[in-house]
Amino acid sequence: MRKKPMVLLAVILGAAALALAQVYDLTDFHALGRMYQPAPDGHGVGKDNGPGRGTHHPGEDCGRCHRPGGRAEGYIWTMAGTLYADRPGKSVLANGEIILQDREGQVVSLTSNQAGNFWTTSPLASDPYTVATTHGHEPFIPLYTLDSNGNLVTAAPADDPSTWHYKTWVRKGNAVRPMMTIAGAGGSLTTPRMSCNMHHGGVAHRAGALWVGRVPTLEFYPTQHLGYRKHIYPILRSNCAPCHIPGKTVTPRNSRTDIETPSTAVDYSGGLDLMTYEGSEVQSPLYHPTIPYKVIAYETIRKKGVADVVDPGSPPKSLLLVKTVEGGMPHGGGTFWNQGHPDYRALSEWIREGARNN
Ligand code: HEC
Ligand code: HEC
Repeated sequence: MRKKPMVLLAVILGAAALALAQVYDLTDFHALGRMYQPAPDGHGVGKDNGPGRGTHHPGEDCGRCHRPGGRAEGYIWTMAGTLYADRPGKSVLANGEIILQDREGQVVSLTSNQAGNFWTTSPLASDPYTVATTHGHEPFIPLYTLDSNGNLVTAAPADDPSTWHYKTWVRKGNAVRPMMTIAGAGGSLTTPRMSCNMHHGGVAHRAGALWVGRVPTLEFYPTQHLGYRKHIYPILRSNCAPCHIPGKTVTPRNSRTDIETPSTAVDYSGGLDLMTYEGSEVQSPLYHPTIPYKVIAYETIRKKGVADVVDPGSPPKSLLLVKTVEGGMPHGGGTFWNQGHPDYRALSEWIREGARNN
């Protein structure tokens, strides 16, 4: 590690302890609550599964047909999609659980069928103060109206899926992936529909598939002489993107509180870019407050890289592993593996061999 490893570790352990000492209100959508709230428990798993067989069109945007005026308008789902075992979406995952919790604390639980598909008609709570944005950035257009005293006159339309606010987790066995969702992505007044496949696409899509699983990344794992480019980068690429990427990774602002208290926005990379060894520096546009897409300036976004979270020669002291292994530190991205997983062992061996950019 280039920085003093023990100091860094102590600071992070301290912060983690603080974070854990707090109890996250299930209905609370503040930054830490989004990152660390454990998946809800105690509900009936699959209690909200929709009726039918639903084995067709896995991976497609279900809402393309299941919407008013669409080919399957007799069946309108509030939430539907496909769950995969891997982020690129190569193999579907049966019997995984998709958990949503809306802003009123209501839990919706769905299980994926043999095609990986899930769907429901259960309603999700709408935020009366929803703000529309242009792809997550300014201008912010309120979907509600206020009187001159600031009192709510008209609430944002509750049947518009983009006003539904909820968090999401996907779970299979002990593996849980928090999605840190803040608001419904997709759907609008003109396209009143929702499908998880709209914002979790296939390989080419930055978001990747909706996935939870422990499929080994590599086809072949050498026991020694691990290479950064050949073995380590592919593992990080397929597990740690899209969160730990260069550039701006702040959750979109979707509601009046997000705009009045910007602290509700979360940098879902934690300032860490795992796609580069040394870290990165990217110019990111700042937008005009009222003119859509008009860039007014650029800000520099600097991030730490892989080298900053490894302690060469010492896997147990390396944050890269401590943050992602079962029983390690709490991590905004969840746990990925136990110590016997081939990906974990490859990362561990590469660190033991010096964590070189080889
Ligand atoms: C290309 C159009 C299309 C897409 C995409 C699509 N469906 Fe359908 N779906 C249909 C049609 C057509 C029906 C039959 C409607 C009817 O009988 O009125 C249907 C019926 C269903 C049914 C009830 C009948 C059954 O098979 O049990 C379910 C459940 C279902 N779809 C789930 C899904 C899910 C989940 C997705 C996304 C992964 C999806 N559909 C994507 C067209 C589509
Ligand atoms: C769903 C998003 C997400 C994914 C996927 C994810 N992370 Fe994270 N990670 C976060 C967030 C948010 C933080 C900041 C909060 C924290 O420290 O837990 C973070 C922090 C970290 C940190 C601490 C950085 C520091 O300097 O304190 C490390 C190390 C880390 N992640 C490693 C990984 C690795 C390795 C993977 C892939 C195996 C991964 N993460 C996947 C969201 C994610």
